[in-house]
Amino acid sequence: LNYHVPRTRRDILEILLKGLRRLEYRGYDSAGVGIDGGNSKDWESNAKTIRLIKQRGKVKALDEEIHKQQDLDLDIEVDVHLGIAHTRWATHGVPSPVNSHPQRSDKNNEFIVIHNGIITNYKDLKKFLESKGYEFESETDTETIAKLVKYMYDNRESDDINFATLVERVIQQLEGAFALVFKSVHYPGEAIGTRRGSPLLMGVRSDHKLSTDHIPVLYRCSGKEKKSCSSLPRTDQDTCLFPLDEKAVEYYFASDASASAVIEHTNRVIFLEDDDVAAVMEGRLSIHRIKRRVGDYPARAIQTLQMELQQIMKGNYSSFMQKEIFEQPESVVNTMRGRINFDNNTVTLGGLKDHIKEIQRCRRLILIACGTSYHAGVATRQVLEELTELPVMVELASDFLDRNTPVFRDDVCFFISQSGETADSLLALRYCKERGALTVGVTNTVGSSISRETDCGVHINAGPEIGVASTKAYTSQFVALIMFALLMCDDRISMQPRRREIIQGLRVLPVDLIKEVLSLDDEIQKLATELYQQKSVLIMGRGYHYATCLEGALKIKEITYMHSEGILAGELKHGPLALVDKLMPVIMIIMRDHTYTKCQNALQQVVARQGRPILICDKDDHETIKNSSRAIKVPHCVDCLQGILSVIPLQLLSFHLAVLRGYDVDCPRNLAKSVTVE
Ligand code: G6P
Repeated sequence: LNYHVPRTRRDILEILLKGLRRLEYRGYDSAGVGIDGGNSKDWESNAKTIRLIKQRGKVKALDEEIHKQQDLDLDIEVDVHLGIAHTRWATHGVPSPVNSHPQRSDKNNEFIVIHNGIITNYKDLKKFLESKGYEFESETDTETIAKLVKYMYDNRESDDINFATLVERVIQQLEGAFALVFKSVHYPGEAIGTRRGSPLLMGVRSDHKLSTDHIPVLYRCSGKEKKSCSSLPRTDQDTCLFPLDEKAVEYYFASDASASAVIEHTNRVIFLEDDDVAAVMEGRLSIHRIKRRVGDYPARAIQTLQMELQQIMKGNYSSFMQKEIFEQPESVVNTMRGRINFDNNTVTLGGLKDHIKEIQRCRRLILIACGTSYHAGVATRQVLEELTELPVMVELASDFLDRNTPVFRDDVCFFISQSGETADSLLALRYCKERGALTVGVTNTVGSSISRETDCGVHINAGPEIGVASTKAYTSQFVALIMFALLMCDDRISMQPRRREIIQGLRVLPVDLIKEVLSLDDEIQKLATELYQQKSVLIMGRGYHYATCLEGALKIKEITYMHSEGILAGELKHGPLALVDKLMPVIMIIMRDHTYTKCQNALQQVVARQGRPILICDKDDHETIKNSSRAIKVPHCVDCLQGILSVIPLQLLSFHLAVLRGYDVDCPRNLAKSVTVE
């Protein structure tokens, strides 16, 4: 939304489409845009009509559709313009233009809205609105929001009701999760954004110094709350003036906690809280809430992000996933940076320092996550058990909630999440908090819901991850959890030799060893040419490498659409062996650790069924290499860190398989990077 910044309509559409491209990893089955529709030089008259352009498919398809709009003058220059745009990952209704966002209140596009999340009570709302004569055109839950705001407008008690008040009334009726941005022909040049459960941030760009670095929150108090809130500013009095006297300013809303959609315009951002209603009007921003939450700081800070644009560009790589795989020597260093002193073998985690004593006294650790982040928990469970001597449970967030798992005040619950926004993990976090457990976040996104709602935590600092299939976040989560384990036993004399061994292992890991594994890329690509037409791939291992099997199989499923299964080698004879014959591709991970002999037995069992396993093994293990048809030879490191090296060949393999099969590596069908719905 620009104020007194001259832009052509072409520029504005380009900003919107670029933002969508950066967010495409969140969903990409259809996209749409809603902009001021007139072709006059006067912005206000332009804003009295809204043009919606929506298209099935990726943002590129929307771009083409925009250029087909003959009657839209792309060259007119305006110095106030508001546009909203959305890329969709279908939850209700098939991907189609009518189901894409923005959704509208009526055929005249009086109110339009874009939405991330799910409205769980939309059926009741729809029934109510239909009974009042509102006609629906899509199958989406979002359309009820567009209709509801029009209902509030149609039934307003006075003509001077402001847009933010209408939206406040709307969200009081909504259940579920949402990040919303509204635009209306009745409120030209005005945008309202709000959220609950789904991320929403605002970027502010101005060439002038901002008059403040805090936006006070304005509370509307009513009924019982009135008394306790009476000393606070009221929304009806005035909106916050910002910037005070300089209105040449652009505002961006983005539903992405990592800010990648706005970073090329500004690094000054405001993270909105649940139920905040942010109103932008005539160059000013105000943030409203119905009432004050306990413990809520009555202002939102304007933060300056350190992220650079180049961090989210592909560079010389063909896809973000490939770039992120090859970034691992640096991302793993960034996870450790300033936290490990390799000279005196100490670990410092600033985000845990006030709670570490309490954690050391706990009865149990529970690691809760989804997808790849769950695998990071599986991968480090054993070393956590060893170094903390505590029982460690590793839980899939959805199943943990389904079971109503008992949680106690003396439990410490970890929430591992790249995005920090995964709905299942977030709900599990709230569940554990309610039961009094101490909560710890392990996330890659500063300012994300999980990082804000946990009592303490560790940022993995892997840098923005854009490819839907997670790679560098996994290895960084792995390292972060190992650092936590090391911290937990730093004063245990008996543990010191083991601690030293692991810390010195971490020192050589990124630069020497990860790089060496990445140099196997050509060999792995060759392997992929032999496998890419297969239907299925089995991946077997045990101990520290069971997680690698699960994660490798997930990568293959996600981006190549081949069937793949990670199998615990100890379970081989209890079923999976029946799948093995001379045609079935089997990858086996055999490393020189305490499970080595047992892995050799599994290898013999597979070979005896005429299987011809492809091995991922220690490069010095000549005995195993001799007996294999093909071996990917990785360098040796400390047993509990070896999983970082064994997973990289599988990341590379899945990448090459997907390329050979002709699929879009970064945007696998039906999946989204950050799943903010249950
Ligand atoms: C989605 C993504 C996965 C990711 C999982 C958990 O399913 O496609 O790549 O592992 O969510 O995401 P989180 O952000 O919580 O780590």
